[in-house]
Amino acid sequence: MATRTATVADLDGIMALERASFPTDAWSPAMMREELASPHGWYVVVEEAGRLVGYAGLRAVRGARDADIQTITISEAARGRGRGRALLTALLEEAVRREVHDVFLEVRADNPVAQKLYLSEGFAEVGRRPRYYQPDDVDAIVMQLDLRGWAGRRAETAGIPASGLEGPDRSHGIGSEAPGEAIPLPSSESTPPTASGKGWC
Ligand SMILES: CC(C)(COP(=O)(O)OP(=O)(O)OC[C@H]1O[C@@H](n2cnc3c(N)ncnc32)[C@H](O)[C@@H]1OP(=O)(O)O)[C@@H](O)C(=O)NCCC(=O)NCCS
Repeated sequence: MATRTATVADLDGIMALERASFPTDAWSPAMMREELASPHGWYVVVEEAGRLVGYAGLRAVRGARDADIQTITISEAARGRGRGRALLTALLEEAVRREVHDVFLEVRADNPVAQKLYLSEGFAEVGRRPRYYQPDDVDAIVMQLDLRGWAGRRAETAGIPASGLEGPDRSHGIGSEAPGEAIPLPSSESTPPTASGKGWC
């Protein structure tokens, strides 16, 4: 398994996986090309024997406090062997490098496999978007991850002392809010439903 940064040259391979994984609401090639070319995006692919078997994307505007997991997909035959988690981890590591505080994503309410992956990395449900996924008419669950907490847990697992972990400044972060204070959902500007009706992720 080899994971590397994606480029626009990966568009055809990514689109083949996109159409197979999201038959009713795949992004268009033009939208995917824009994602791959955006300076605010960062996409990774995973290859096996020269074939692309997965891709994932992060949107993290330089200097912004929040980032979004845009999409993550592993080809059906390659699922269940750690590749999805490896791609998600690569995106979260890039978000740490970009000094992001919180990572958001939307996941279909009828996708328990992806939900389990996100929950296991520490994402928590912070809201719902009714009927977000069209034409399937399925709700989106909005999830949020405190990235410093995630990085701290990873460092602990790897045996790195906490003092060596200088994460993003948390002074204005979710962690500084009063208990019970509502966490604002990402604005619809940062996570617009796409023209095809498919939401992000
Ligand atoms: C979601 C997806 C990316 C996961 O990738 P994957 O390579 O199969 O996942 P991994 O092998 O890395 O497993 C990661 C975790 O996902 C969950 N998971 C994976 N397969 C599962 C299954 N069949 N049932 C329940 N949970 C499962 C588990 O929590 C697993 O962790 P564990 O192995 O420690 O129990 C993949 O299933 C996929 O591409 N699905 C279709 C596209 C999609 O739904 N994308 C998400 C959009 S938000």
